[in-house]
Amino acid sequence: MRRSEPVAWDQEFGAWHVFGYPEVTAVLADPGTFSSDLSGLLPPQKDLELFAKGSFVGMDPPRHLKLRRLVSKAFTPRIVAELEPRITQVTRELLDAVRGRSAFDLVADLAYPLPVIVIAELLGVPAADRDRFRGWADGLLGDNRPERLLPDQDHMNAVGATVRDMNDYLLDHIRARRAVPTADLTSTLIAAEVDGERLDDEEIVGFVGLLLIAGHITTTLLLGNTVLTLDADQDATAALRADPTGLPTALEEVLRVRTPFPRLVRLTTADTTVGGRDVPAGQVLNLWLASANRDERQFAEADRFDPTRTPNQHLSFGHGIHFCIGAPLARLEARLATRTLLEDCPEFAVGPDVGLHDARIMTGARSLPVAV
Ligand code: HEM
Repeated sequence: MRRSEPVAWDQEFGAWHVFGYPEVTAVLADPGTFSSDLSGLLPPQKDLELFAKGSFVGMDPPRHLKLRRLVSKAFTPRIVAELEPRITQVTRELLDAVRGRSAFDLVADLAYPLPVIVIAELLGVPAADRDRFRGWADGLLGDNRPERLLPDQDHMNAVGATVRDMNDYLLDHIRARRAVPTADLTSTLIAAEVDGERLDDEEIVGFVGLLLIAGHITTTLLLGNTVLTLDADQDATAALRADPTGLPTALEEVLRVRTPFPRLVRLTTADTTVGGRDVPAGQVLNLWLASANRDERQFAEADRFDPTRTPNQHLSFGHGIHFCIGAPLARLEARLATRTLLEDCPEFAVGPDVGLHDARIMTGARSLPVAV
């Protein structure tokens, strides 16, 4: 499909699919023509509207950049590198908790708790509430979506209940920090100014909620995907055990071949062309990152996992102004967790009962039994 028709019209869903690497990249590089603001397409949902006020992933310039700037400083590779000791400590504690067992669930015991503890600590919310956060992530991003590309009213009602619980929880947290600021990111956002104005509580809810949800569920997928990939390629595993300096390159390749978030959505603001096809204004485009990441025009032997592949300009963190702000953190967490896992477990083997997410929504495991 990607080869014969890199940009295709889908009659059934009344939307476009963009499969090719250059085509997906071109769309992501032009936020003026291809908007991230999908609010007009979704059935109304007041709790979600409140959440959307500060959630800059669904915003276009110039507001997007103003809000993004408020947190971008907290996620530079240099600042994130300071988290290394804490990430290593949490990883060790999680692996110590399963020591002596012959098998454990990599997702429940490591890949989920690690990133959620790290992002919760950054935001100043109690990591002990992580089961509740997981419920929100499942409700917002999970496999309970209908067989449609965009959610319908029933689904939005269900999402509304999730978002209401999240909004209430985060509003309490924000009010507590307004009263007594600490050194966490929530307090930084409360004190921050955009064009001389402070963010209101509702904007901060969207901001903190976005970081909390985006900040863990995708990294969970990456960690699970790494173990699945290494389990299937014992040569690569042996090479990385012998020389862990190859890990960052290998992890980029895991991100490419198992794209955690396979699809992004954009909306055309004007008549335009994509890959030579005329696309009118007001149309939905599904940008298949997972397909673009295997485009032979960009990657030689694109279907092959090559842990030494360089350069590797995969699109798993997006491209352009919305490029994942948490990429340095996700990369660091994945590197430290995988290194520790390889050190602590001289052998591991993935069991037969792996639970996978719906691959149209998320690529990765929801449960991953590992024998050690
Ligand atoms: C944006 C993927 C980890 C926070 C994005 C986008 C992708 C992505 C594809 C672009 C969305 C778009 O263009 O519409 C991933 C993957 C991760 C990961 C695959 C892990 C392997 C994280 C982490 C954080 C985070 C750890 C938080 C600290 C964000 C935020 C945005 C974003 C806030 C919105 C940026 C913007 O709109 O300017 N991510 N992400 N992500 N990500 Fe990540």
